[in-house]
Amino acid sequence: MLRVLSIGDAGDDFVASELRRQGYELRVEQVCTREAFSQALDRQAWDVILSEFSVPGLTVQQAAQLLRARHLDAPLIVVSNAVGEEKAVEAMRAGAHDFVTRNSLVRLGPAIEREIDEAANRRERRRAELFIVDLNRDLQRRIAELQTLVNLVPVGIAITDTPDCRFIRANPAFERMLEVAPSSNISLSAPVEERPPFRILISGQEVPPDLLPMQRAARGENVTGQEVEFIREDGTSLRFLASAVTLLDENGRPRGAVGAFADITEMKQAEHMLRNSEKLASVGRLAATIAHEINNPLEAVTNVLYLLERTAGMPPYAAELVAIAQKEMQRISMIVKQTLGFHRESVAPVRISIADLFDEVISLYQRKLDSAGIHVHRSYRSRGEIEGYPGELRQVFSNLIINAADAIARGGHIHLRVQDVTRRFWPERRRGPRLGGNSSLNGVRVVIADTGPGIPAENRRRLFEPFFTTKGEKGTGLGLWVSQGIIMKHGGRMQMRSSTRPGRSGTVFSIFLPLAASQSGSTPKPVAAGE
Ligand SMILES: Nc1ncnc2c1ncn2[C@@H]1O[C@H](COP(=O)(O)OP(=O)(O)OP(=O)(O)O)[C@@H](O)[C@H]1O
Ligand SMILES: [Mg+2]
Repeated sequence: MLRVLSIGDAGDDFVASELRRQGYELRVEQVCTREAFSQALDRQAWDVILSEFSVPGLTVQQAAQLLRARHLDAPLIVVSNAVGEEKAVEAMRAGAHDFVTRNSLVRLGPAIEREIDEAANRRERRRAELFIVDLNRDLQRRIAELQTLVNLVPVGIAITDTPDCRFIRANPAFERMLEVAPSSNISLSAPVEERPPFRILISGQEVPPDLLPMQRAARGENVTGQEVEFIREDGTSLRFLASAVTLLDENGRPRGAVGAFADITEMKQAEHMLRNSEKLASVGRLAATIAHEINNPLEAVTNVLYLLERTAGMPPYAAELVAIAQKEMQRISMIVKQTLGFHRESVAPVRISIADLFDEVISLYQRKLDSAGIHVHRSYRSRGEIEGYPGELRQVFSNLIINAADAIARGGHIHLRVQDVTRRFWPERRRGPRLGGNSSLNGVRVVIADTGPGIPAENRRRLFEPFFTTKGEKGTGLGLWVSQGIIMKHGGRMQMRSSTRPGRSGTVFSIFLPLAASQSGSTPKPVAAGE
């Protein structure tokens, strides 16, 4: 059943009977005004609209517009009394799909058929277009989501679009880690002038760029969990666990690669430190055992020398030799005692005045400092009573003062400050050890500042590592590492600032220690012995 909407007399009985003759079953409704046409369109669907060339209340153009406005596809065919090429052109311009004259109504059936088909095609095309638009919007949204993710994740992500990896892009996190400019090329396979300012090592060896994870993946290999080390221009290094996968084109051929680089630098450092501290602990135990074994014969020899010294009638040169032997023995005793002390577990903590401790340490080194022309300035705005282990803290302050003196070499200043602070004002450091507990807990800040040359940036990171020293044979590189441990054991923390600016260079070590219980008004973190 063909549903025909007739504008004016276009679908009159004559036309209808011709269509029926052509084999159509149809139902015709007639409208003559704009309003009637609109209502008819809104009421039901129509298969075809037949229109006169001109009806006073509704032109072909208006009819076409109303159809378009409703996104209706029903074909609009003008059935006209008038003949002529211009009339047809005019009707088509006005928006009709076809033009049939009353003397050639045989054409009407096929025209309707064709236009209905066309309309179906148009509908289909529009549906496809809408689908694509939807798909596109969805795609854009997903790309935006992915982009946000890539920008956000704290993992290094690298992408290359070419199998030869001449250009590799990095996400912002990776750019920050590698300290390269945004959107720069991070590929070592790039032309020389575009190459990034770092080297990459695998198992400690520099390898040809072709063997790096991204390059391998871009050729079709999958790389999982490979350790790589990036050495930046300033000599600092970063370690990553790299995984990379191939990107394929529509024919399944490699067209690039994507890689993820997880920063494992700190993990590796921690591993390294742990190994060192284990080594150190066993060395300490060994030294303590040996020192203990030596102690007994040592005492016997000391006694023998004492008796010899008192023997009457000894020739003067022999007495001199005994005196030398006694002096050397004293040195040996001292070394043994220190070695024993190094390993000895601390007993219960005692109350200590930081200012007193400082004075003690300074008096110990006064001669050395004086002869080097180094001035020590003391400013104690607190006696800062804390609870802790005096021997260990003395070790911390000695090392800091000697480090400062070593750095200054000749004619400089060391400032020592002791003052009360609340923990709230203690600056947090990203990598520093964290203080747990009450943030309003009061404490003492101890500052050791020097006017030395400062510590170069590349050394700062390694300062607290065991065995890091710039003093060759003269230093063990354990001073700061041990100090850090002692301060942490006291529930405190240590911070360093340094500048190498000529004329304004120097280094400041600040130590925060919680006050003893009765002074601080809150309970300090208990200090565990032998921790
Ligand atoms: N005040 C300072 N000014 C300049 N460099 C410093 C200062 N303090 C420490 N350093 C640097 O830090 C390194 C490590 O210091 P640390 O006290 O751990 O070991 P060390 O002094 O070399 O050896 P040790 O303490 O066993 O004698 C030093 O070798 C030095 O390069
Ligand atoms: Mg030192």
